[in-house]
Amino acid sequence: MSEQPGPTDEYQYHSGAPDLGDPSTGNWSIRCIDVHKRLGGVPVLNGLNVAFPDETITVVLGPSGTGKSVLIKHIIGLMFPDSGDVVVKGQSVPSLTLPKLLALRRKIGVLFQDGALFGSMSVFSNVAFPLRQHTDMAEAQIAEIVKQRLSDVGLMEAIDFMPNQLSGGMRKRAGFARALVMEPEIVIFDEPDSGLDPVRTALLCDLIQEMHKVYGGTYIVVTHNIASARQIGEYIALLWRGRIVEAGDAERMFSSENPFVRQFLSGSAEGPLTMD
Ligand SMILES: Nc1ncnc2c1ncn2[C@@H]1O[C@H](COP(=O)(O)OP(=O)(O)OP(=O)(O)O)[C@@H](O)[C@H]1O
Ligand SMILES: [Mg+2]
Repeated sequence: MSEQPGPTDEYQYHSGAPDLGDPSTGNWSIRCIDVHKRLGGVPVLNGLNVAFPDETITVVLGPSGTGKSVLIKHIIGLMFPDSGDVVVKGQSVPSLTLPKLLALRRKIGVLFQDGALFGSMSVFSNVAFPLRQHTDMAEAQIAEIVKQRLSDVGLMEAIDFMPNQLSGGMRKRAGFARALVMEPEIVIFDEPDSGLDPVRTALLCDLIQEMHKVYGGTYIVVTHNIASARQIGEYIALLWRGRIVEAGDAERMFSSENPFVRQFLSGSAEGPLTMD
């Protein structure tokens, strides 16, 4: 049929994100503006425009290998765009000096996929690490904060454990406690639910929601899990082929007419997304 997508219209479903230049569309704490990034000679981010609203839990969804982790690396300044701009809390990340970039990173808590704990340090020392590294707090004050965060995430009983004594879910909670310890303005989770069973995934999502309620901030949760997106997503950005297919409030996204959005959010085999 003539309407079938051909190789030249790979962006036909990309209706995009709301206009980032229009201040009336929201208060954005992070904006990516026409970001292009090639890796290994291949375009990964290909004119990415997306913004993350302040004080909101945004879920970033998208097929494997579509650039979600690369996007996160641009936000924390571990990668820089070939062209375009990434603006975090009003600062253009690619043009920051190293000291300013390090200062910005202190405002961002990141929970990596496996928790990324230091294997030779106890849970206590892992969570205390950012405070010891970046502040001149007294040990007593550090201990107080660490214990508060560990009880927030329900891990006080594991305070003296080594990472290899923790289950996958506990590891993620310890990583979460460490990500929160500097009272970050932005918290980023890269697939917090990977490797967890559905019940533990739902419990972790509850915890993310609860911590967001208590401490506030801009949360970005990257996941493949539609149930997680439904549970915690207030704003949803769907990424494919290095650009936003569509982004918006969760309610609007879950009732989208866009065939790609519908397919992805319903986890259906029928639709524009195929195995290739
Ligand atoms: N450092 C790198 N060098 C070369 N290619 C890279 C590098 N990092 C990522 N890529 C490529 O960029 C593309 C996007 O990778 P990315 O890790 O962002 O995907 P993703 O959307 O996070 O996928 P997943 O859901 O599987 O985690 C992939 O094709 C990957 O191979
Ligand atoms: Mg990834």
